[in-house]
Amino acid sequence: MKQSWRNRIGVFDSGVGGLTVLRKLYRYLPKESILYFADTLRLPYGKRSREEIILFVRQILDWMKGEGVKMVIMACNTSSALALEVVQSEYDFPILGLIHPAARGAVKKGKRIGIIATVATVKSNAYLNAIKEINPRIQVWQVGCPEFVPLIEQNRIYDPYTKKVAREYLQPLIENRIDTLVYGCTHYPHLRGILTEILPFPVHFVDPADYVCIAAARELELLNLKNHSYPLPTRFCVSGDSQEFAAKCKHWLGFTPQVETITLPAVSGDAVVAAETSTPQSLPTGILTF
Ligand code: DGL
Repeated sequence: MKQSWRNRIGVFDSGVGGLTVLRKLYRYLPKESILYFADTLRLPYGKRSREEIILFVRQILDWMKGEGVKMVIMACNTSSALALEVVQSEYDFPILGLIHPAARGAVKKGKRIGIIATVATVKSNAYLNAIKEINPRIQVWQVGCPEFVPLIEQNRIYDPYTKKVAREYLQPLIENRIDTLVYGCTHYPHLRGILTEILPFPVHFVDPADYVCIAAARELELLNLKNHSYPLPTRFCVSGDSQEFAAKCKHWLGFTPQVETITLPAVSGDAVVAAETSTPQSLPTGILTF
């Protein structure tokens, strides 16, 4: 399909995490029109298998293609880590992920880098590999934080339990005296307040959203796809409950959007069944030190 500069940029995540990217997009690319999709019916993605993530991502991209997007930003680290390389060449529009732009940003900030991410992202070693590719001397510690996404989705940010869990997750990073912390999941910038309170020393925070927005701006420029006109209001779509998501948006965006429920192609295959019956990852997932 011919890409028009007027078309929307597709942005997707499993839930409210992608709103941290959307907020930055409003700041960096205020003229662009956005189609936001949250796969709320199937979150959290962080405990899904690689096969499932690739399947879900293809469904989302197929749908976005039908909606005529000119570019897609995966506002989801888990999808970026597990599916980007597989699907990137399957579509005729540019697809941007978070990992490589964020890794390039992180190595400019520090030499002892902590990554907090979903279990699936940590297991993929996508951040570790991307950082080591740029500079093998940089030390990286990764922690899987499986409890964060459900707590954030339930808006339990200031619940004492969330702080207790966050303290446990950050402990190994504190012991290793990281100088830089990467939000390896787009949900986590919502926790910035409590993470700053827990860390006993200052660190550089790396929000991949900043770097993907810069990359998107560059790509639009290169492909001559920047919107020259006024943006359309953001279109919000979810796979689950639209009212519930609209209420969450009010909290994170400051307004209550109209939200549509979209039915993606039916999920078939054993992968989904396997994930739904598999035992959840234990907490914490352990730390990988390199
Ligand atoms: N916010 C997504 C990420 O960046 C997905 C989190 C989840 O659904 O587990 O990884």
